[in-house]
Amino acid sequence: MHVVTKAALGTVGAGLGVLGWASLVERNAFRLRRVSVPVLPPGSPPVRVLHISDLHLLPRQRWRAKWVKELASLDPDLVVDTGDNLASYDAVPAVLDAFEWLLDRRGVFVLGSNDYFGPSLKNPLRYLWHRGPAPERAPSTRLPVESLVSGLTDRGWVELTNRRASLQAQGMRIDFVGVDDPHLRYDRLDLVRGPASPEATLTIGVTHAPYQRVLDTFVADGAGLVIAGHTHGGQVCVPWYGALVTNCDIDPGRVKGLSRWWVGAGHGHGAPVAPSSAAPDDAAWLHVSAGLGTSPAAPVRLACRPEATLLTLVARQPSGEADSELVGRLR
Ligand SMILES: [Fe+2]
Repeated sequence: MHVVTKAALGTVGAGLGVLGWASLVERNAFRLRRVSVPVLPPGSPPVRVLHISDLHLLPRQRWRAKWVKELASLDPDLVVDTGDNLASYDAVPAVLDAFEWLLDRRGVFVLGSNDYFGPSLKNPLRYLWHRGPAPERAPSTRLPVESLVSGLTDRGWVELTNRRASLQAQGMRIDFVGVDDPHLRYDRLDLVRGPASPEATLTIGVTHAPYQRVLDTFVADGAGLVIAGHTHGGQVCVPWYGALVTNCDIDPGRVKGLSRWWVGAGHGHGAPVAPSSAAPDDAAWLHVSAGLGTSPAAPVRLACRPEATLLTLVARQPSGEADSELVGRLR
């Protein structure tokens, strides 16, 4: 066989192998990340927050639903769901069943574009260059978002779409401020703006997509922590390098996991964003989930396992030394 033919066959074989891994193995290799966030006043007891996001569930995906259902065994104080739960019109009962035991816990949620609209086929390469809000949508299935919302709120979870709310955890008042999906430009920051209450131990901002305008507003109003999803962690990443894109206007260094955000960290669309290592001492914390699923239109994950996160909110050290050590590990 000619050497060029051999090389071509080898390249095709390797490509098929990577595609098989990404679509059949890694996409279903769920993991739980555990992260401590030093965001509470000194002396506060820890608060365990389970962050779930981007489930993108189809009714036939029973393995994924079972994995989510068993997260209740973590016994979280609060659950935060940052949206994109649905992947088909008939998925609401499956989502509510997956959340069945978590719905016994206090919880809050916001919605993502995939709670409103069904997946539509699009050029997957567009994901690699498009960073702004979603363009005008081609016609696609309108999903039963009202049934999803009533199913969650009937069990006691609090909807945060362009709303504020307060919950109790470990004897402390925790305030939440949330927006509808900024990727669809549904966020109404004008409805939720206002200084954080001094009576709350902590204010947490919640958004599906972590656009800079939302992060800036939450943080300027006094949120100490912002929780988001949407990025899928880059979804198709380069092994030993990381994400190439975030599908919004934050930088790839913040595409998943814990980082810092402060007013001035970003400089607008297309401009460099300051790294977490440049954060001032009073910067807020940002947690972005890589999410649990993918759109059925792009069912692959590479170097980016699906995940949920147990955030343990802990007391700040009075000296700030622990914060400095943690920040040193952030990009
Ligand atoms: Fe998503």
